[in-house]
Amino acid sequence: MAFREYKIGCWMFGIALSTSMFVTIFLPGLDISAVSSTDIALEKQLTYGHESGFSYEDPFLSGAGKPIKVVLTKDPMNGSPMDKTNAYVFEAGTPFPSGLTHTHVLGEKVKNLSESKGRIGSANEDQGAVFLVRLDEASDTPYIENASATRGWTPEKVLAAADQTIMAGSGKTMFVREGCWWCHTLLPEQTQDWQSFGRPPMLGDFNGESPTTFGSDRKAPDLLHVGARNSSREWMMLHFFNPRLVQSHSIMPRYDYLWGDKDAKGNPIDLKAWDEAYMKYAAGETPYPPEVPVPADNSDARYLIDFVLNLK
Ligand code: HEC
Repeated sequence: MAFREYKIGCWMFGIALSTSMFVTIFLPGLDISAVSSTDIALEKQLTYGHESGFSYEDPFLSGAGKPIKVVLTKDPMNGSPMDKTNAYVFEAGTPFPSGLTHTHVLGEKVKNLSESKGRIGSANEDQGAVFLVRLDEASDTPYIENASATRGWTPEKVLAAADQTIMAGSGKTMFVREGCWWCHTLLPEQTQDWQSFGRPPMLGDFNGESPTTFGSDRKAPDLLHVGARNSSREWMMLHFFNPRLVQSHSIMPRYDYLWGDKDAKGNPIDLKAWDEAYMKYAAGETPYPPEVPVPADNSDARYLIDFVLNLK
């Protein structure tokens, strides 16, 4: 009797071991470029640019060398009104994401459309270019359009016509540099997670994105769609300056140093004076906390807030 049980155990162990060896050896051979990019992957590549985090392009992780996402409601060439459109501006010298330099990562259908209809082959990093994410309705396939070639849009013209500029590419560098991923994930799972944090990503959502910043050990809410549930710039500003202003027991660290020396109006920021005023408020001596300075347009804080609000 006892012998038979050992035998079953041995078989089960063997099956478990070989399944796990199969997964370990064969699944990494799955070629991500065989998967067709979704429109989400194309938007992410064009928003975040080449490489976020530590790289020789941005050794001090200052958010340099990143594209600018803009929202247009008028045509940059003649100023006539147009439907709200997102455009991705790569000023001269801004490194292109891998989907533009190694087009096979887009997947075959997306690559072919981007090259034929989108004319991405003629985009030049040294001169800069403006891109759009478009949908080919006949084949229901997204592709990248090089609007500099197809419409004559230059980075300068598009920036001048923009209603809004979104520095989410530089913001992603801040997200990596500041280690937000120690607590936050960008990966809702296929469980009840779905109900609070939104749709889990799909395989084709990651083509060409580097790094993916999934996070690993979640201690705080998933942020993949945070901009869709909380679009308040002001809330983000208060929460990053001092999370305890809006969540009295928050364990999230303060990021007030990302404001730099001067606020949006050019006034100096005195963190020590702010802390003293805040301690009085925390002790109940004053009814309201001190005002949080509005971050300057070129501050790390503004980049980070743009990144977070752009996660939709
Ligand atoms: C020590 C863990 C920790 C770190 C590090 C951290 N957070 Fe948080 N974060 C939290 C917690 C906990 C919450 C939940 C709300 C609260 O307590 O403030 C939160 C909430 C948030 C929210 C609102 C989430 C929602 O569902 O509305 C955003 C956005 C956010 N954090 C962004 C960041 C960014 C960006 C960074 C890096 C600069 C960061 N966090 C670093 C713990 C952390």
